[in-house]
Amino acid sequence: METNTEHKFRDYEAEARDTVKTFYRLNHTHQTLDFVKAKKADYLALNRREMGIWEAMEFLNELIDDSDPDGDFTQIEHLLMTSEAIRKDGHPDWFVLTGLIHDLGKILCLFGEPQWAVVGDTFATGCKYSEKCVYPEFFALNPDSQVAEYQTEYGIYEPETGLDNVHLSWGHDEYLYHVVKDHLPDEALYMIRFHSFYPWHNEGAYTHLTSAKDRQLLSAVKAFNPYDLYTKTDERPDVAALKPYYLELIDQFFPAKLRW
Ligand SMILES: [Fe+2]
Ligand SMILES: [Fe+2]
Repeated sequence: METNTEHKFRDYEAEARDTVKTFYRLNHTHQTLDFVKAKKADYLALNRREMGIWEAMEFLNELIDDSDPDGDFTQIEHLLMTSEAIRKDGHPDWFVLTGLIHDLGKILCLFGEPQWAVVGDTFATGCKYSEKCVYPEFFALNPDSQVAEYQTEYGIYEPETGLDNVHLSWGHDEYLYHVVKDHLPDEALYMIRFHSFYPWHNEGAYTHLTSAKDRQLLSAVKAFNPYDLYTKTDERPDVAALKPYYLELIDQFFPAKLRW
């Protein structure tokens, strides 16, 4: 079922709009190791603004995601559909909350970042590109493809260094992880930090860089993924009706505003 749904919802070859292909050409061309390090140095200072979670949800709602071949819903609807599906399956509060917030890092777009530097599947920089990434042919356009040191299997990394030490292509996963990392359990943090790392969690790539902890928490990332995908066909959630429940849930884990 997961595979069929995956194909139905993520059929890049047959049905993707040109914008998706263009998106990945830009993403794979410009996401170099140096680019990732520069974005981390800039954004992970978390000195742009202070917002609560609901405030960030409303801020995000202006955005349309070019990387998503199926997106007809607003960002806030996608978040609530994800969290509601998790809640209906009886998962713990932290898991529901993770569904609610998992894409809030996309506010990077509203800070002026192009979408190719915010959304879409992520990949490891500083080491050989995986053929299991979407549109791998575009990696030839990346200047790092000419740097021999970055194109060995391990590149700049030690074997089993752990994903915490690997510079994944920059985007909303890593950013949000740093915003919320002191407030949620490891399972939630892995879901947030690696939900776009499809080559790893869906295709089994990059395991030579993972630590025992990564391999243990992979199951959490996998458990989250269906909710990010399947919920895209559900009915529109009633945002106003759901708001009181979620404000209370948010308050449990994030009693104060967060630095973004
Ligand atoms: Fe996402
Ligand atoms: Fe999502």
